[in-house]
Amino acid sequence: MRLLIKNATIFEKNKPLQTDILIEDGVIAKIEPNINLKADKSKADKNKNTKGNNIIKTIDATGLTALPGMIDLHVHCREPGATHKEDFLTASHAAVAGGITTFFDMPNNSPPTSTLAALEEKRNLAKKSVVNYGFNFGLVKTSEAIATNDLKSDKKIQHKKSKKSKGKKASADAKTDKISKGKITYNLEEAKESQKYKCVKAVKVYLGQTTGNLMIDDLKVLEHLFLTTKMVMLHIEDDKLEEVLELFSNYCKKNTSSKTMLYICHVNSKKMVELIKKYKKQKHIEDRLFCEVTPHHLFLNNEDAKMLGRLAYVKPLILTKDDQKALWRALEDGTIDVIATDHAPHTLEEKNNPDITKVPAGMPGLETALPLLLNAVHEGQLTVNDITKLYSTNPAKIFGLKKKGRLKEGFDADIVLVQQKLKKRIINDNLLTKCKWNAFSNKELFGVPVYTLVNGNLAYEYDKFTDKKTLHDIQGREIE
Ligand code: NCD
Ligand code: ZN
Ligand code: ZN
Ligand code: ZN
Repeated sequence: MRLLIKNATIFEKNKPLQTDILIEDGVIAKIEPNINLKADKSKADKNKNTKGNNIIKTIDATGLTALPGMIDLHVHCREPGATHKEDFLTASHAAVAGGITTFFDMPNNSPPTSTLAALEEKRNLAKKSVVNYGFNFGLVKTSEAIATNDLKSDKKIQHKKSKKSKGKKASADAKTDKISKGKITYNLEEAKESQKYKCVKAVKVYLGQTTGNLMIDDLKVLEHLFLTTKMVMLHIEDDKLEEVLELFSNYCKKNTSSKTMLYICHVNSKKMVELIKKYKKQKHIEDRLFCEVTPHHLFLNNEDAKMLGRLAYVKPLILTKDDQKALWRALEDGTIDVIATDHAPHTLEEKNNPDITKVPAGMPGLETALPLLLNAVHEGQLTVNDITKLYSTNPAKIFGLKKKGRLKEGFDADIVLVQQKLKKRIINDNLLTKCKWNAFSNKELFGVPVYTLVNGNLAYEYDKFTDKKTLHDIQGREIE
């Protein structure tokens, strides 16, 4: 299988360069101006090792910029448990429309992805994804604690205890919180086991209240987790951050041979980025502490949030202009390593619940992240290379994804072709996410994904003349 992208613009050291990109068997075979197919074909004929050299398709990318596909480390696909909000297919459709070619799903499902059985179920469900995918495993309090409670009185607890795994089945039910007499235990054993899966790159720990009741309040458990995990990913608010960073710093000092990394999700405040910046300067933490920012925290502040009302209700909250500015500074000075959407779809009905205490936190983001970032390039706030680094290269490096995150010969042909000068309005009805709304809807943004390729297969095309989005029936791969 071969595919030739003609006349794409790529950016090397922020300088635009016109080039062709040849794709063979899902891999970038050559990046060079004016690739001559005939000459190349005869060469390929001579070289018997080159598989199938018949041209399937040529894409005319004149006027389009080629970027490595975006890699989103923080996505809630909602399957299993809440497929009325989203599922792996619709989430992946939204992803390709947003130029994302790989995503990592979060564990706050019901049931949570906190047992190996739940992980296996999710791996199975995720097969319908058109983008490449991986998973973050969830740390939860376990049923050992529940066993000390009256199981029968709790209809919410659906996990049945099997003889073999007695005491190890996980549960994220809020009820667990209320058990004070029983000894609280965690699914540390399964979290450790999950790390043997190549598709699992991190264990997610919720140290703050958010959608899914996976809240853990005893920070001490982290010390155990650090010993057995590649990476700990944290949902944390800024009141606990210093304590955790101190804990991690001490852990790194004591365990010099450990390579465990700490990743702070969705930073939202000046206080958070300043703390992280301070700890990143410690020699023994360098290259082991990372953090992420979402597009909504970058592009919205509490004044916008006031206008948007419940739609802008997310965890952690969208804060002041001052905090927003601090996030942009932290992008510039390298404190923030990654942009990720925290795509957290809820239905409009759920968001508009008349009982304000029942409105779920979270907003969708897969389709609008790259357009928002490209629009920021148009406005001079970012460069194309910044986007590549923060939303593709760094995520690939931090999660150890081989052959991803760069436009380079030998790398996977996960590619998005965008038209930077094309302006497009975000319209709810045209969105591919099942929840069909967006906090940025009706905004006009410069920068539109036109073609998205996953493993060398055309997954998505956009026709600007008819405003038509075409999805192709392809399968993404589980991350290795
Ligand atoms: C997320 C969700 O809805 O799953 N909500 C949110 O406000 N960010 C959970 C989370 O990432 O904290
Ligand atoms: Zn449960
Ligand atoms: Zn979170
Ligand atoms: Zn999230």
